Amino acid sequence: MRTLLLTLLALGMASVSAAAAPNTAANPVGDPKVASSDDGKYFDANGNPTYKIGAGDAVDWYTFSGYRRFNGSCEVCHGFDGSGSSFAPDLTQSLKTIGYTDFQNIVVNGKQDVNTAQSLVMPAFGDNKNVMCYLDDIYVYLRARADGAQGNGRPASHEDKPQTAIQNENSCMGP
Ligand code: HEC
Repeated sequence: MRTLLLTLLALGMASVSAAAAPNTAANPVGDPKVASSDDGKYFDANGNPTYKIGAGDAVDWYTFSGYRRFNGSCEVCHGFDGSGSSFAPDLTQSLKTIGYTDFQNIVVNGKQDVNTAQSLVMPAFGDNKNVMCYLDDIYVYLRARADGAQGNGRPASHEDKPQTAIQNENSCMGP
């Protein structure tokens, strides 16, 4: 009985560390290639949101929406199009190593690096609907920027806004 318990305990611990593995893996970002889609939203092989750039540099709706939302809520510190400023990091570099889960955690909860030499404070946006309702949009836009797939400035053109995006926006933003 005692051995069985210990085995179960060991198994439990093994599965906990296995579940945490994706974040500590060498490349938590993964291949951005589109593996599936759902009404104009694209996903990579890991099931994380990704961008799609089609003919004539037309981007998917979410990348376009992310461009607008990023440049409404984040550019004051991170610079237009995410290229960084003297007091906040260049996200076109950061997103090469920060994966989807870590990105969500940082934006929801904030991040700080405060010591005697510097005071870097990323605010928490968990209560801000203008960011939370568009978190995936902002992520796919920055992912495209970090991969060099989307340059500076406004995307040349974009896919139509999907019905699902309209419905989710209405329910997330509320009346
Ligand atoms: C008030 C200024 C400010 C605003 C607004 C802001 N950030 Fe930040 N952000 C920072 C600072 C400063 C850091 C660095 C924090 C650190 O080093 O711990 C940071 C770090 C980050 C990081 C981690 C980068 C890295 O290399 O570690 C991500 C991702 C990020 N911000 C995304 C966003 C997004 C998305 C938005 C808009 C929703 C946003 N930030 C808005 C100041 C800001």
